[in-house]
Amino acid sequence: MNAQYNNMFESFTLNNGVTLRNRIVMAPMTTWSSNDDYTVSDAEENYYKKRVNGVGLVITGCTHVQPNGIGFTNEFAGYDDAFIPSLRKLADAAKSGGAAAVLQIFHAGNKALPNLTPNGEVVSSSAVQTEATGFAPSVLPRELSHDEILDVIHAFGETTRRAIEAGFDGVEIHGAHGFLLQNFFSPFFNRREDQWGGSIENRLRFPLAVIDEMKRVIQKHATKPFILGYRISPDEHQEGGLRMKDTYVLIDRLIEVGVDYIHASLGDVFTSKPADTQDEKTHLEFIAEHVSGRVTLLAAGSMVTPDDVNKAMNQGISLAAIGQTLIMNPDWVEKVQGGRESEIQTTIKASKVNELELPEKLWGFIQASGPWFNIEE
Ligand SMILES: Cc1cc2nc3c(=O)[nH]c(=O)nc-3n(C[C@H](O)[C@H](O)[C@H](O)COP(=O)(O)O)c2cc1C
Repeated sequence: MNAQYNNMFESFTLNNGVTLRNRIVMAPMTTWSSNDDYTVSDAEENYYKKRVNGVGLVITGCTHVQPNGIGFTNEFAGYDDAFIPSLRKLADAAKSGGAAAVLQIFHAGNKALPNLTPNGEVVSSSAVQTEATGFAPSVLPRELSHDEILDVIHAFGETTRRAIEAGFDGVEIHGAHGFLLQNFFSPFFNRREDQWGGSIENRLRFPLAVIDEMKRVIQKHATKPFILGYRISPDEHQEGGLRMKDTYVLIDRLIEVGVDYIHASLGDVFTSKPADTQDEKTHLEFIAEHVSGRVTLLAAGSMVTPDDVNKAMNQGISLAAIGQTLIMNPDWVEKVQGGRESEIQTTIKASKVNELELPEKLWGFIQASGPWFNIEE
């Protein structure tokens, strides 16, 4: 192995004392492959087991904390104690290769799927029409009431307790990708005039209350240090949407309340840039500069080679999350450690897909999603 890659394979200790064996993270990735009762399927179990033998930390695909928070078809659920055995199956699979495992929890907010929510209802911070995405239709969500907001906060705590009981080493709050946490933080989607909207302090009230509740639950139920991470999207494309200046305030608050890491979700760590600046600097450079070593910074976005990881680490991240590349190279870490980086695949060979242990529905999604992945016949 090239000596300059040593750093990424050194162990890393988070502030709360949890030590990861190295700095490569499996990025959270939905598989659309739960059983129809929203329990974790055998195909998902096998998909994880195949990919967790080299990385230091596994972040699971997202799970919804309430039935109306479902964002993807066949998304395994975490909203009821009945799902604890299913979550345990996932925790066992994610930890089977010796890595720590974190459950990503969320509420899809205005991107929930109305054909799967009770009564077809979609809720958000405010009733603002959404744009259709590749995954969710355009909807006019219903504004949550004050009491319902308190229920969602409670639900995040309950799912955290289930994660502890299931044997996870931590949870990651999915505060990115335009889901409910971001619906509240966003000045575009949050038009409320009560204590949950308006000023940036009010728009942050919901995410911070969720963290507060989760910390309370962790304090009460965890018997060993338990990781609490928070995933962010740095800005929004809408006129009047989130901008970096908002994100800086969020980052400061997350550091104040003591999350164990901040996870920046970027399309490409080296090229993603804020839309409204002439500056040449990337999202990652702005974020790393603002964080300035005050909290563990993790980022994801188009890292393929160990050189990419190395370069991103030199720009200020401590942990590197790898998504698509780990789908295509379940043994990415082993390849790099074995000096076989020339074997890293950047396409999926359809004829060899059975070697990748991809759940059938995930493979179907990948095939149907055009340029998302490179597929070779
Ligand atoms: C199949 C797939 C499913 C994903 N599901 C999630 C998810 O559940 N939660 C999340 O925060 N991001 C999700 N993402 C985004 C990834 O975590 C990651 O940020 C993104 O793919 C960029 O990293 P990459 O270029 O290394 O794949 C998903 C990405 C892929 C490819």
